[in-house]
Amino acid sequence: MPHDCPVRLYSNARLWSGQPASAGMPATQPPPVGAIAEQAGRIVALGGPEALQRRFPDAEVHDLDGRLVTPGLIDCHTHLVHEGNRADEIERRLAGESYQDIARSGGGIRATVTATRAASTSQLIASALPRLDALLADGLTTIEIKSGYGLDLATEVRMLQAARALAAVRHVTVVTSYLGAHVLPQEHANDATGYVERVCADYLPAIVAGGWADAFDAYGDALAFSPAQIERMFAAARTLGLPVKLHADQFSDQGGAALAARHGALSADHLEYTDAAGVTALAAAGTVAVLLPGAFHFLREPQRPPVAALRAAGVPMAVATDCNPGTSPLASLLVAMNLAAIDFGLSVEECLLGVTSVAARALGRQHDCGTLGVGLRCDLAVWNVARPAELVLGLGLKPLHCRIWQGRPEPAKSTG
Ligand code: NIG
Ligand code: FE
Repeated sequence: MPHDCPVRLYSNARLWSGQPASAGMPATQPPPVGAIAEQAGRIVALGGPEALQRRFPDAEVHDLDGRLVTPGLIDCHTHLVHEGNRADEIERRLAGESYQDIARSGGGIRATVTATRAASTSQLIASALPRLDALLADGLTTIEIKSGYGLDLATEVRMLQAARALAAVRHVTVVTSYLGAHVLPQEHANDATGYVERVCADYLPAIVAGGWADAFDAYGDALAFSPAQIERMFAAARTLGLPVKLHADQFSDQGGAALAARHGALSADHLEYTDAAGVTALAAAGTVAVLLPGAFHFLREPQRPPVAALRAAGVPMAVATDCNPGTSPLASLLVAMNLAAIDFGLSVEECLLGVTSVAARALGRQHDCGTLGVGLRCDLAVWNVARPAELVLGLGLKPLHCRIWQGRPEPAKSTG
């Protein structure tokens, strides 16, 4: 690290570190006051305000007035880049139609594929920006964005390019996933084998050669891909050095969690119908369970994921928005945490870990972000509250004071 790079000191802050039982404090108590020293975008020291001031006498000091500071929030599962919206389908569901029936009648994911294929990269960026800004206003500093609404190579690459381009217009880290196995595209409706072969032989190698994706994602479901088809694509992705993750067991138990675990997946996501064997397999593999309470909410899903079993088995649980136009038009991690607590029964601490350190692990980025630690990125969220529980146990209260991304502060738009 260059010695002449200036040091910033974020001082007089209540530090919630993103570690379990952070400082041994319950989330309803304000954490102790401390300070963070930042240089060249990374945390270089943590400690008492006076001690750090003595150690870095020339630092630019930012007094945070006793506010709560957490790691910047991480949304580890989104479909942020897409064109069009499907409010009409949500209205149809309110009138009694099912997600599956709407998908079989030409709606669902394929409706968004049609709209997305017709959009240019700049249109995709423009339509994603308001959703990204909403997430940033709740303290986000890292986001995972999937493709999956193109399903031909050109559109999938355009989606991934748009996702990466968002990081050039906002202070945020973008991690991308190639969701080549979302559903069968219309032109392959009766040719699943042909499409799977195409993904393995053509699309995956091209995406990897272009460096467009950080992981490969698939959707295991009766509406989408079978376990055998996913096995084939996961094997191809891993041969190319791409980590894998899976939309697993959302509407029925397909053995998705165990499949993901067998492939050492970074994460298995949804999991409403995962059975005991699936939970055991996730625990043994160290695969993160990503819970998506927004999709559960919008779908009025009757079955909850097996949270008590996941907890008992020691499976790390992340919480994400699943921001997408069909099953989870949700662009707030604070709301996602609230739903995870109220509807899934996560503790306040589990919710907060789920959008910080565990979310980082779901992206394979735990050595870079998600906790307050020396050497990690100085990505912080500064809140107008003192107690971590207040971030989870309210809705619409807009508690963000400012975000700090790689050491650079950026005030929240609506607050001081
Ligand atoms: O994560 N489950 C599959 N994929 C999305 C739904 C996408 C859509 O309906 O457009 C999900 O919920
Ligand atoms: Fe999803």
